[in-house]
Amino acid sequence: MRAVILSEYGGSDVLRISEVPTPAPGDGQIRIRVSAAALNPADALIRAGALASRVPVRDHYIPGLDVAGIVDALGGGVHSFEVGDAVIGMSDWPDTQAGTHAEYVVLPATAVAAAPRHASPVQAATLPLNGLTARQALDLLAPADGATVAITGAAGAVGGYLVELAAARGLHVVAVAGSQDEELVRKLGASLFVPRSDDPAAAIRAAVPGGVAGLIDAAALGESVIGALGDGGTFVSVLGAGPAAERGIRVSQVQVHSDAVQLAELATLADAGLVTLRVDRTMPFSEAAAAHDTLASRGLRGRIVLVP
Ligand SMILES: NC(=O)c1ccc[n+]([C@@H]2O[C@H](COP(=O)([O-])OP(=O)(O)OC[C@H]3O[C@@H](n4cnc5c(N)ncnc54)[C@H](OP(=O)(O)O)[C@@H]3O)[C@@H](O)[C@H]2O)c1
Repeated sequence: MRAVILSEYGGSDVLRISEVPTPAPGDGQIRIRVSAAALNPADALIRAGALASRVPVRDHYIPGLDVAGIVDALGGGVHSFEVGDAVIGMSDWPDTQAGTHAEYVVLPATAVAAAPRHASPVQAATLPLNGLTARQALDLLAPADGATVAITGAAGAVGGYLVELAAARGLHVVAVAGSQDEELVRKLGASLFVPRSDDPAAAIRAAVPGGVAGLIDAAALGESVIGALGDGGTFVSVLGAGPAAERGIRVSQVQVHSDAVQLAELATLADAGLVTLRVDRTMPFSEAAAAHDTLASRGLRGRIVLVP
């Protein structure tokens, strides 16, 4: 099969298209013929070697965590899918090292769900990693009913899903994003908008004088934003351990993991129009290096999706 591979870590120039063996599904696994695979910041981290200490040395790696495609072959004991089903899935890189930026990927059945029925494969491929991250971050936040929570990076892929999922749970969402993103994040369900600034804690406090009960830091602002929380609040970091705890604040870190049940729920929410699948552009595998460069330029308001 054709795949985007890297044989050494580095910049986008280490990415190549190559013929590699097509993986075979083992027990409990599914082989998916890839229709579309989103490109995420995690893929740039894999390419740069940020996860090198967590993977065995191999002659090549295939990046890619998100996939939408068609079930192509079933391993033993898989009864929940049939060949030909349209599915979405998430690869638990670095545990799996199974990359979706390839014509085929093998994933455990527990990482796969039926694709949203009203979305194209390109749209559907934007859901798994970031939808699951948002869902699992909200579960960690565990806010009280009707609480006021702040989301930084609210216009980003994780942040956008967070705003929608939090609003759907009846929370009051304070969205921190660029001024040009106000209309977008309000449409996603934010009840308050705070423009990004050098002092996001003060800006959020100006909007919510007592401080917010919970904060999910999808822009990785860390120390500069913990002051937005009221005493005893909860801070969820998406990148690293997060800032030092203070004033009885609980600080935790989300580490996304595949979950077929949660993924199926997200697909249902997408079909109901409660979760918005945002695509910036599609690019072929052969332009993977250019796609990584475009992702690094930031300012995107939808995912780049790679197609075979
Ligand atoms: N822990 C996990 O399991 C997990 C899973 C998935 C993702 N992540 C991490 O989560 C982070 C977000 O990922 P993503 O895919 O959502 O990235 P993204 O789409 O690039 O979103 C990040 C957003 O934050 C915005 N931003 C940057 N600085 C800001 C500031 N000072 N105030 C407010 N917004 C600001 C960015 O705007 P501009 O584009 O204008 O800069 C962008 O809209 C990344 O660090 C990613 O690696 C972690």
